Amino acid sequence: MCGIVGYVGKKQAVPILLDGLSKLEYRGYDSAGIAVMQNGEISIRKSKGRLAVLREKLEAGNPISGVMGIGHTRWATHGEPSDTNSHPHLSRSGRFAVVHNGIIENYIKLRQRLTEKGFEFISETDTEVIAHMVEYYYNGNIIETVAKVTERLEGSYALGILCADMPDTFVAVRKESPLIVGIGEGENFIASDIPAILSHTRDVYFLENNEIVMLSADKVDVYNLDGEIIEKNPFHVDWDISAAEKGGYEHFMFKEIMEQPNVIRDTIQPRIRNGKIVLDDISLTADYIKGINKIYIVACGSAYHVGVVGKYIIEGINRIPVEVAVASEFRYMNPVVDDKTLTVVISQSGETADTIAAMREAKRLGSRTFAIVNVVGSAIAREADDVLYTWAGPEISVATTKAYSTQLTAIYLLSLYIAQELEQLDDEQFRMHIETLEALPDNIAKILDNKGEIQYAASQYYNAKSVFFLGRTLDYAVALEGSLKLKEISYIHSEAYAAGELKHGTIALIEDGTVVVALCTVKKLFEKMLSNIKEVKARGAVVIAIAEEGHTEIEKEADHVIYIPKCGELAIPSETVVPLQLFAYYIASLKGLDIDKPRNLAKSVTVE
Ligand code: F6R
Repeated sequence: MCGIVGYVGKKQAVPILLDGLSKLEYRGYDSAGIAVMQNGEISIRKSKGRLAVLREKLEAGNPISGVMGIGHTRWATHGEPSDTNSHPHLSRSGRFAVVHNGIIENYIKLRQRLTEKGFEFISETDTEVIAHMVEYYYNGNIIETVAKVTERLEGSYALGILCADMPDTFVAVRKESPLIVGIGEGENFIASDIPAILSHTRDVYFLENNEIVMLSADKVDVYNLDGEIIEKNPFHVDWDISAAEKGGYEHFMFKEIMEQPNVIRDTIQPRIRNGKIVLDDISLTADYIKGINKIYIVACGSAYHVGVVGKYIIEGINRIPVEVAVASEFRYMNPVVDDKTLTVVISQSGETADTIAAMREAKRLGSRTFAIVNVVGSAIAREADDVLYTWAGPEISVATTKAYSTQLTAIYLLSLYIAQELEQLDDEQFRMHIETLEALPDNIAKILDNKGEIQYAASQYYNAKSVFFLGRTLDYAVALEGSLKLKEISYIHSEAYAAGELKHGTIALIEDGTVVVALCTVKKLFEKMLSNIKEVKARGAVVIAIAEEGHTEIEKEADHVIYIPKCGELAIPSETVVPLQLFAYYIASLKGLDIDKPRNLAKSVTVE
């Protein structure tokens, strides 16, 4: 997501901030900005686009000088990428400048309150509320003020704050978003990640949640929310820069797999308020939804696989018929779509040519379009009638993991939103679905804790020639994704099959040593999956089963069993997919392949 850098010392701040931000480019961004304390006043330069655009702005007659400042690369969540929405944001009087990484979940409420108090907003961001709040609560003591502000913020944040009253000191604070402090000689730093400061110092503090840091050139003090000083032990960094950019992991894909609990939380939590689903800016009304004759889900690759799961979720909750189509087919298949059809397009990049064309075709046929997209301001986000952002943060690995998972949760949110508007579920059922969604991040974290077992299974079969993924209904939908993950990064031939369909031909391919991954998480079909496992074992297959905790009888049939936490049925794909991502990852890693950039593949497929 966004990147933050801050500097105070004796050198000019601008080059240090720009250099630091360039080291955070890997996090993805669409705009950048800096604020520097210049002669007791805060000067800001910011612009949409790459850092080079900001650099040009600064060099082309608009330079600033000063020895303290904060900088930011923004990856848009609230409000499109634009000069105005870029950070830093100033408070009303211009006395405070704020950079922010994270999402403020209650910003609408805070914005309303500030508006009532006469504050005017010039951006669409959640961050601007923080700048105004700091000004509103400022009592001359910045630590007390920041504590007061953060007590009122819900969500995740790392903040850097300049105050015109403090010409040689600035503050920062974090909760759930990363922030480190770099300790130098006569200079100090903050940053979202270590690479941003590594050319200046290797001694850092890792800030914990709710710790406020105050930095001047010669001093760093860390406080708790009660204003008491906290003793911190510096950590000496001895990694190289490229490892640090990946958070110490060997590959972006692994880092992104591990980020899933957090990004799913970011996608879900701001949309659940007081037990209700709140989708800001979505204009689907109950009247419109009542008139829908069907929903078409259109997407490519993994996003299409989300659609296959989505059919079960939407039909399961709402009993509205759902069709799912691959975007490159949809546009040529003469689909039955009219003004009573809602077309849901799903895309991480928002730039996939086939999906854009399919969306335009749906519009031409009179359909309303609803996009589930990760990249804010992308073509699909701009053209769709409604957009639900997944807030997964930038995905760098070509093979998608966290974007897929957040797309699944977005589909679940949409289904519940429709149910809520139609008053379709009773309170108890609705509450159960909300609880299921809210439990997902912790459940997925548990699966990730158990990665050693999946690594072991991968180590047994990484030389396999062919791997089959079997499942029924929701498990089959996830099998499609498991199989794609494996083939795209490990280059092992793989197929996903509806388990009951195997015997109609494909079972001929099962022979001694064929690896079968059997997904057995759908409760009512568990016995049937046991029979399918017996069928393939009788023909020599080795079986890795994925089952819900407690279903230990499967250990009699399968060679390996990976358990996942119990969970509401419609959310189970969000859990099941995680061991499959890890399985593909470990196999590709054991084969020594270029995991983040598999052969022949591109992250964004902008050609037909
Ligand atoms: C697979 C993968 C692709 C994408 C597909 C659609 O790991 O990443 O299958 O899912 O190319 O891309 P987006 O979601 O950007 O439209």
